[in-house]
Amino acid sequence: MTTIHLPELCLVALIGASGSGKTTLSRQLFAPGEVLSSDAFRLMVANDENAQDATRDAFDSLYFVARKRLARGLLTVIDATNVQADARKRIVSLAKEFDVLPVAIVLDLPEDTLLERHRARTDRPFGAHVIGQQVGHLRRSLRKLQGEGFRQVSVLSTEADVGPARVVRERLYNNLRHETGPFDFIGDVHGCLEELRDLLGKLGYETADNLSVTPPKGRKAVFVGDLVDRGPDTPGVLRLVMGMVAAGTALCVPGNHDIKLMRALQGRKVTVSHGLEQSLEQLAAEPLEFRREVASFIEGLISHYVLDGGRVVVAHAGMKAVYQGRASGRVREFALYGETTGETDEFGLPVRWDWAAEYRGEARVVYGHTPVPVAEWLNRTIDIDTGCVFGGSLSALRYPELELVSVPARQVYAQPVRLLLPEGDAPSAQQAHDELLNLEDVTGKRSIETRLRGRVTVHEDEAAAALETLSRFAVDPRWLVYLPPTMSPSETSGREGFLEYPAEAFDHYRRAGVERVVCQEKHMGSRAVLVVARDAAAARARFGVQDGRSGVVYTRSGRAFFEDAALEAEVIDRARAALDASGLWEELHSDWVVLDAEILPWSLKAGELIRRQYAAVGSAAAATFPAEVQALEAAVARGLPLADLLNRTRERETLTTAYVSAYRQYVRRVTSLADIQVAPFHLLASEGGVHVDRDHVWHFQALARLAEVDPVFIATGHREVDLNDPEGVAVAEQWWLDLTAGGGEGMVVKPLGFVARGKKGLVQPAVKVRGREYLRIIYGPEYTQAGNLERLRARGLNGKRSRALREFALGVEALERFVRREPLRRIHECVFGVSALESEPLDPRL
Ligand code: CTP
Ligand code: MG
Repeated sequence: MTTIHLPELCLVALIGASGSGKTTLSRQLFAPGEVLSSDAFRLMVANDENAQDATRDAFDSLYFVARKRLARGLLTVIDATNVQADARKRIVSLAKEFDVLPVAIVLDLPEDTLLERHRARTDRPFGAHVIGQQVGHLRRSLRKLQGEGFRQVSVLSTEADVGPARVVRERLYNNLRHETGPFDFIGDVHGCLEELRDLLGKLGYETADNLSVTPPKGRKAVFVGDLVDRGPDTPGVLRLVMGMVAAGTALCVPGNHDIKLMRALQGRKVTVSHGLEQSLEQLAAEPLEFRREVASFIEGLISHYVLDGGRVVVAHAGMKAVYQGRASGRVREFALYGETTGETDEFGLPVRWDWAAEYRGEARVVYGHTPVPVAEWLNRTIDIDTGCVFGGSLSALRYPELELVSVPARQVYAQPVRLLLPEGDAPSAQQAHDELLNLEDVTGKRSIETRLRGRVTVHEDEAAAALETLSRFAVDPRWLVYLPPTMSPSETSGREGFLEYPAEAFDHYRRAGVERVVCQEKHMGSRAVLVVARDAAAARARFGVQDGRSGVVYTRSGRAFFEDAALEAEVIDRARAALDASGLWEELHSDWVVLDAEILPWSLKAGELIRRQYAAVGSAAAATFPAEVQALEAAVARGLPLADLLNRTRERETLTTAYVSAYRQYVRRVTSLADIQVAPFHLLASEGGVHVDRDHVWHFQALARLAEVDPVFIATGHREVDLNDPEGVAVAEQWWLDLTAGGGEGMVVKPLGFVARGKKGLVQPAVKVRGREYLRIIYGPEYTQAGNLERLRARGLNGKRSRALREFALGVEALERFVRREPLRRIHECVFGVSALESEPLDPRL
């Protein structure tokens, strides 16, 4: 035998006495990384290939590496003598642990050859008798290898066998990664032939008669098993599916009912129950030949398939991630029956271990087995057995469209033991599962894949900070589908008396290759995210919230915006009414929206900060400067040389007065909604879409419609600017000067498109240019004085800009995942990411 056929994933034991040529052969047959040699590990742990006292350490490390490789699904070869049963037992159990096939390649060369080689070697400092002993062990082992569990044994016994030996790797039966679909996965049919034909028809398959079914071009049906039992026409279903599989227009995995029927047909002892009686009765009317074909068809079915490059897996009862693409008895058992907890429920049925709830795999898993009222995604898994035979429906999942198609049962063919009626108000499977969040999903160092900016890394300590913030202070996590990014200011301006000025923001975008921008008035308030559902039912259905609320307003750190829940409810009600009146629900085909907004006055959220920090400075100045100026004036009048100090003091008094008037205009007492204004500026997302593909003008215009119907909402002033048009730029500059002259906060400059890419990739989504007087609040009353301004101009923006981009990418990713109805943990991964990045230390004045 010179061609050795190996499964692409297996654990290979090389077996042979010293000098039989194991190491030499392994180089001939396998890639270097695939071979783990005990001698190489002895060398690594003890500097000596022959160090017998290092055997234990060498094997410990060899097994450690082997486990890592097998966990990754990589073929692995163990190069050691393996002539003793104990050594091989360990190999077989390692293969079992990872559900891969153990195979043996034996080098059984004549003892004379080995002794001759041994004499010629200088690297094996042991006596020739050792070879004799090893050969003895090997010979006694040869016949036992199959029994020990090796699924395949190849013996090479002459040098003529070894020389030309080569390995051919064969794909595992379950590996259909090269089949990319599109597919139509079909749930448990259970002999419901008419419904199956209805469903195939609805999916666009042409069913001229039972034997010829023509799929829409390029499509393939994939049956999740349980074709048989309980229903009216098991033979008809079998004939149709067998025909499709034979014609290559369908794949089929076996269900537990199919296997039991096969066993019955093969004359094995089975309990005839759970609908098997109907199948046998119906099949009794068929020719013997057909019954034989059925048995061999079922016998030939593969228990699970990995399809489309590993992106989707199908098995009757599901397939947990570590079993996907593996082959072992327990993998097959899992595919057919799932795993049970060993307990039974109130109906006497076994309690199934809910593998789907714990599923964290990347591949989608499509399965059946347990009838459910509706097929629903849970952690990328979906049960499409909607109980047709029990009077439910027969369902299909179209892939890659992920569209569910079903047809109702024409009648109730069997009574279920367990009721499968949908409960009207019950949360979806995913929502029910998301009730309990898992710490592991948000802690530790994380690497989050985003569409806009590739991988974003969150460090462990930052993740811990986010957990602290969000778990202690945030709103109900089900609402928390987005956090806004931070925003960088423009580069500092060299202009006399200004720290920030529009020219630098325009330059920034020009350099990035952006030609058209929008300038948006920056309302001086506090950032808020509004999640608004059309009514409480829509909130329950889409967000899974159970408390009857229909919306929420939270801050950029995820905390409730309003301390007063009644006030929050009022804001939500008004937002909903404005959305009703504006017709936006219909236009967006949605019954929920996520808005980014500024809520005024600033003092509503920042009251405490203003009192303790800004007002304290203001009143200290008011209390001391007049007296100080008075005293200095008197002293100067008496001829003392204090004119300079007097001037300086007067100037400081003026600056502090300007400082007080800067913050004072943002302070207003709030007693009711009438004192509050909401200025929304991004219509971030609604059912089916994250609106980052719309430009900012679309956002402003859509949201201005809320202001038209309710004065609580104010439209955000904005200008579109073509950066190549000097006149337009000048107008925008003047606009900014006017806005900020009286202490206005300033403006935000954004690329016209929500997401802009320039020469260096993703461009800052926004850059703020704050007004000269407003900046007094941030940098202190005297910041404009010569010396201070020069010092402040040396500020680094790189950290802030990098953070802004990462947070922007994460925020959009969170919304995109929410819109795709991914599990909450996948959304929170991004939301927690934004919160985590906020804990990076950065100058808070930027
Ligand atoms: N050798 C040979 N012809 C072969 C294979 C090996 O002459 N077809 C010689 C090698 O040149 C080497 C010796 O036999 O000098 C041992 O070969 P090796 O592949 O190292 O044998 P192993 O089975 O790996 O021996 P050990 O268990 O001692 O590592
Ligand atoms: Mg060797």
